Amino acid sequence: MMTTSSPGKIILFGEHAVVYDKLGIACSIDKRCNVKFSPSDKGFVLINSKNLNISRSLKEKELFDLYKEINVLIKEKNFDKIKEIYKNNELIPSFFVLSSIFQKYGFKGLDIEINSQVPKNLGSSSSVFSAISLGALNYLTKDFSKKDISDFAYNGDVIAHGGTPSGIDNNAVTFGGYVKYKKSEGVKPLTIDFEIPLLIVDSDKKVKTSEMVSFVRKQREENPQFVNSVLNSLDNISKKALDVLISRNLDDLGVLMTQYYKELKKLDISIPELDKIAEIALENNALGVKPTGAWGGGCCLILTKDKENILNLKNVFSNNGFKSFQAKIGVKGVEII
Ligand code: MEV
Repeated sequence: MMTTSSPGKIILFGEHAVVYDKLGIACSIDKRCNVKFSPSDKGFVLINSKNLNISRSLKEKELFDLYKEINVLIKEKNFDKIKEIYKNNELIPSFFVLSSIFQKYGFKGLDIEINSQVPKNLGSSSSVFSAISLGALNYLTKDFSKKDISDFAYNGDVIAHGGTPSGIDNNAVTFGGYVKYKKSEGVKPLTIDFEIPLLIVDSDKKVKTSEMVSFVRKQREENPQFVNSVLNSLDNISKKALDVLISRNLDDLGVLMTQYYKELKKLDISIPELDKIAEIALENNALGVKPTGAWGGGCCLILTKDKENILNLKNVFSNNGFKSFQAKIGVKGVEII
């Protein structure tokens, strides 16, 4: 038996823009997903997700058929069909990660149990895929790198993100710490050695990763000039944020977070709850605010001034019916525990 553990992640800057080869900055958080593996000789893989409360198995042949089917759909850019398959079975992305590993290294019967503490509204799928990827690879070969773990985990997000993930999420949870990421350049670790006083506030509306990524993609197809200009502005904000993070200027960081929020909001992916959270944060002396991840729901990041400001904001959010929490950020990436 073996257990792997992967952190959750937050996107500090760059969500959506990063899909179009712009800069993204992300970090891991100390809410983790644990995946337990037991080898079996039953000729199938059983996945039991304690979080989703579902258990499904696929036989060796079914896994290889799934691998072929999804790859044909990706080649055809038939993202609607991929979404439909995902809708009918939420464990399909995890099976697809496994099938792509088996395709390279051969099949192995496994019983897999997923137990995740990563808040769903922060976008938790990559944490599951990275932990699954590490576990399966570890049974099948000793010759693999963090990049391999992340690349196989990416396959899960191809389904979970509606066809065109950037790759930032799988890299953030696999490598851990802080990372900068660009599709064409890959992942690079960042050394950030000071505490960023962030409060995470949940809108209590489900984050809509696949829908929002598709929605932005469609808008860009219909109105490339406008969407590209927004994406370029977002890229400039993220580049400034990188400098500001390195020079530890929290005031400027807050300003850039709020700028990112206002710029990305132009693509119509916010919801009243996210806007309300932003309004409350700014009215109560936060340094900055932005949603994190795919939007359409999910969580906001609030950059606070100090401990007093955090306590006050927590109270105000609670009085307005929003749950908030703090997390340790920049923690270790995926590992065997
Ligand atoms: C989701 O966590 C981040 C997005 O930019 C999608 C992606 O990069 O794959 C919205």
